[in-house]
Amino acid sequence: MVNRAELAIYPGTFDPITNGHLDIIKRGLKLFKRVIVAVSDNKNKNVLFSVDERVKMIREVCKDMDVEVDSFDGLLVDFLKKKKCNIVIRALRAVSDFEYEFQMAVVNKDLDPELETIFLMTNKEYFYLSSSVVKEISLAKGKVSNLVPGIVEKELMKKYD
Ligand code: COA
Repeated sequence: MVNRAELAIYPGTFDPITNGHLDIIKRGLKLFKRVIVAVSDNKNKNVLFSVDERVKMIREVCKDMDVEVDSFDGLLVDFLKKKKCNIVIRALRAVSDFEYEFQMAVVNKDLDPELETIFLMTNKEYFYLSSSVVKEISLAKGKVSNLVPGIVEKELMKKYD
């Protein structure tokens, strides 16, 4: 085990959290003693779950881990300052993620030069996974038990019933 640094923030929309996100959180905890999952209340994104619902699901899923779950609106750099943290974890799935992630990392660095973004490669099982894919399958009454934690599957079923 490497000597872990203190704290990193893993931001995203998490509408809803998937096993792919969870894999990144668990691997983040191998590098950092504590991870804050920051749920974006971005009003531009059309979401299925309210920010409170998303936070609640993640808290339940991560209840046995050194994970804090909080929400934010506005700029990510301001949330980082509030939490006294300068490290962001982001996941890369396919090459297609790179351009957007690169742009976001550069913009964030411009806004706060102290900020560093760390990229973790998504596990190959989750390369194709996204929250939209999960919602689409669930809406069509398909099986998502291998893609999301059990509690998320239940909440999806409630939404689409
Ligand atoms: N496994 C599975 N799916 C993954 C994944 C993983 N490891 N990593 C990402 N994804 C999926 C997500 O499910 C999501 O799918 P969807 O588009 O179907 O909903 C998609 O990839 C995008 O991921 P996400 O992490 O949710 O990114 P986002 O673009 O929604 O969120 C924020 C990005 C919130 C971090 C960013 O917009 C932000 O910081 N906003 C605040 C405003 C700000 O500071 N702006 C300046 C910087 S640009």
